Amino acid sequence: MDTSSILDNIQETNDRIIKSGVRSIFTPHIPIIKVDWLKGRNKELRSLFEHLTTPGQHALLFGERGVGKSSLAETASIELSKRYGLTLFKKQCSRLDNFATIFEKPLKAVNVDVNTISESKSTGLSAVLSGFGVSKDKQTQKEGENKLSLNPSFVAEHISDLKGLLLIDEFDAIQSTEDKEKIAEVIKLLSDRNSTLRILIVGIADSARELTMGHPSLTRCLREIKVRRILIKDLIEILKNGASRLKLNFDPVVMPKIAIVSSGYPYFTHLLALKVCEDVIAEERTTVTMRDLLNATERAIENSEESLLTMFIESTNSTHKDKLERILLAAATCNEFRFSGYDICKKYYDIYKEDLTTSQLGPYLSKLVSTDNSKIMRRLSKGIYRFSDPRMPSFIKIHKAYFPDEEI
Ligand SMILES: Nc1ncnc2c1ncn2[C@@H]1O[C@H](COP(=O)(O)OP(=O)(O)OP(=O)(O)O)[C@@H](O)[C@H]1O
Ligand SMILES: [Mg+2]
Repeated sequence: MDTSSILDNIQETNDRIIKSGVRSIFTPHIPIIKVDWLKGRNKELRSLFEHLTTPGQHALLFGERGVGKSSLAETASIELSKRYGLTLFKKQCSRLDNFATIFEKPLKAVNVDVNTISESKSTGLSAVLSGFGVSKDKQTQKEGENKLSLNPSFVAEHISDLKGLLLIDEFDAIQSTEDKEKIAEVIKLLSDRNSTLRILIVGIADSARELTMGHPSLTRCLREIKVRRILIKDLIEILKNGASRLKLNFDPVVMPKIAIVSSGYPYFTHLLALKVCEDVIAEERTTVTMRDLLNATERAIENSEESLLTMFIESTNSTHKDKLERILLAAATCNEFRFSGYDICKKYYDIYKEDLTTSQLGPYLSKLVSTDNSKIMRRLSKGIYRFSDPRMPSFIKIHKAYFPDEEI
């Protein structure tokens, strides 16, 4: 077949997949924003509704990477704004953001424009505000005033009467501790003023909690809500929801297998479901089988998050690649919070029916373990380890298409 005919085939299959809508049903790379698609979060939704409608209260959602923080935050914010008539201001932080840019949208809503960023030698980047409609000759004077005024009390005073909700996601991307402290101060001031503007901050566990650490008084007005991993039964709900929308059947064993290997991370559930359904749709079939799941793992891994893939490839890049991968699978089936070399050897035997002694394991571990998070596994104490990224055990099991028979 010539290349052009091959491309025709690829396009035909791809068009069929696009038309099915599967790529907007199983969405590993984007957060959920529709409440009916958000599974297993009733308790957290109740808590967010309760606190964000109580005077003087704001909220902080924190949890592991990929656990579903943005999905929960976005869905809750959209629903809260719709149901309580709030204006929603969304801020997705990046490394380039600072105190001024975080509050840019609510400030704009009260006609304060964070429109010039000037370089100041002593303080690094500092934002300069200027009022809307300020004429040119007044501008310089206004800038001078505003340079001084871009402080927490200026911001709190201006945005306090907005009937709105400010969602600050990826809070951990903010680099400057000073900026984080200023944000904490704004929250405290808004609370003191009984502001109608509520703030919802979202971030990865430790970095987000830094916000409250230096501010004991903040804990009274900033409710911390931990976003936990999703239960197997709720991961199965994600799959059932998708299957019914796509009018696909899953063989009974397939959904539990996907849910178990996901270890509470909806990310892996969406990723595997997407790849497995794409294959079935491409072949114009309507039933997803275990064979389809086994076949889809390779493409799921190719499409998985770069940091996981890179870490795995770097860790197994050796002449002993095969052995290292087997050791990693054995480790991935141990207790995820802490395991010993002996535990790995035991699991190794269970899976491969081959002996591996702790002294044989030693040299391999030196390639896999460090005392910080720079290698795939971290040493917690002498002879005790865990994976540096808690999502890694799922990734490894999917990579090795390891779906043992387990009870749910
Ligand atoms: N409650 C849920 N129900 C269904 N799917 C979900 C749920 N939570 C998250 N997801 C799915 O899981 C994936 C990861 O979710 P999300 O992006 O919300 O996680 P996160 O914790 O914000 O990740 P990161 O730490 O990378 O920002 C998303 O693709 C989303 O589609
Ligand atoms: Mg997120």
